[in-house]
Amino acid sequence: MVRSELVTGVSAISINNCKLLDFSRFSDARGALTPIEGGTDAPFDIKRIYYIYDVPNGASRAGHGHRELQQVLIAINGSFDVHVDDGSERKVFHLDRPHLGLYVAPMIWREIHLFSLGAVCVSLASAHYDESDYFRRYEDFQNAVGESS
Ligand code: TYD
Repeated sequence: MVRSELVTGVSAISINNCKLLDFSRFSDARGALTPIEGGTDAPFDIKRIYYIYDVPNGASRAGHGHRELQQVLIAINGSFDVHVDDGSERKVFHLDRPHLGLYVAPMIWREIHLFSLGAVCVSLASAHYDESDYFRRYEDFQNAVGESS
């Protein structure tokens, strides 16, 4: 399946729209290389990249939802747990390989917990930073999910 099919026809808000992506690996005696191309490996055009690092022991990140943003989260180093929530169901994905990405669909509340020492979370995002796309309060997210169903 072409990865871009992941987002076509998806309208219902569901954690089932969040998928693990196993990217290509080119390994030889010199090490490994994983390429990610927007629109094929990642199911959207990549407009922004950011990364989270130097996370203190016990700290959590994210804790928000997005109206329209699509993302792929990758544990480029170390590991962490991504909790996804569609307002009624929850699921936890453990990311611990640089060739594994978690596609996070729009209208999903996400939290990132249990960062290992030195973990780096890379995020590929479908849009430039836009604070108005965020739900910063879980209650606001739940209300919006309710209104769209
Ligand atoms: P924040 O949303 O709190 O990070 P997390 O993903 O853990 O929830 O973002 C921390 C700060 O970084 C906040 O002041 C907004 C800023 N920021 C940008 O300027 N650009 C970006 O692309 C992102 C993701 C955050």
